[in-house]
Amino acid sequence: MTEAAPGRTGIASDEFRAVMSRFATGVAVVTCVQDGFDHAMTANSFTSVSLDPPLVLVCVENDSRFHEAIGNAGAWSVSVLEAGQRGRARWFATRGRPLVGQFDSTPTTRSDRTGALLLDGALATLDCRTVAVHPAGDHDIVVGEVLGLRLTRPDGEPLLYFRSTFRTLSEGPDPLG
Ligand SMILES: Cc1cc2nc3c(=O)[nH]c(=O)nc-3n(C[C@H](O)[C@H](O)[C@H](O)COP(=O)(O)O)c2cc1C
Repeated sequence: MTEAAPGRTGIASDEFRAVMSRFATGVAVVTCVQDGFDHAMTANSFTSVSLDPPLVLVCVENDSRFHEAIGNAGAWSVSVLEAGQRGRARWFATRGRPLVGQFDSTPTTRSDRTGALLLDGALATLDCRTVAVHPAGDHDIVVGEVLGLRLTRPDGEPLLYFRSTFRTLSEGPDPLG
């Protein structure tokens, strides 16, 4: 493994990435509207925080275009991706993709609570309102109160992210370990 220059903690960033990549997650696309434009970002940092009140969080990189968008929007939606949606996950993780028209080939439905786009075919969707933003290194932790949710495909299979690769449950264990 190539060693990246360690920061002040002495932890090399590529080693940190390699270790964290063993923490398997689902994959979501977070969406919002800023100045009439639809924004989106693929995220696997999405997680639940509190049951009462219902709170979730997503960590958003400070340098991303989505950072400014979610900061200004105040409300956002989350689409939890289904196994067949890895193409959507890749697209909404592509840096510098055009903002205008980025949803042209993605079927969506607009949330009446947040105004943000929900991806058709997602396993589940949530509508959130930002209640706190905590700076954390090169990301912000954005905490959202859940305003609404839908279990759109209760028996659907999830898209997973493990060892920096999209996976599905039915693909089974990785032969490389
Ligand atoms: C599987 C996966 C998960 C990701 N999770 C996050 C995340 O939780 N937070 C984040 O800031 N970026 C995450 N990214 C990177 C963003 O999707 C990507 O940098 C962003 O879409 C770039 O958008 P921009 O061109 O609008 O700046 C992830 C990328 C992938 C492929």
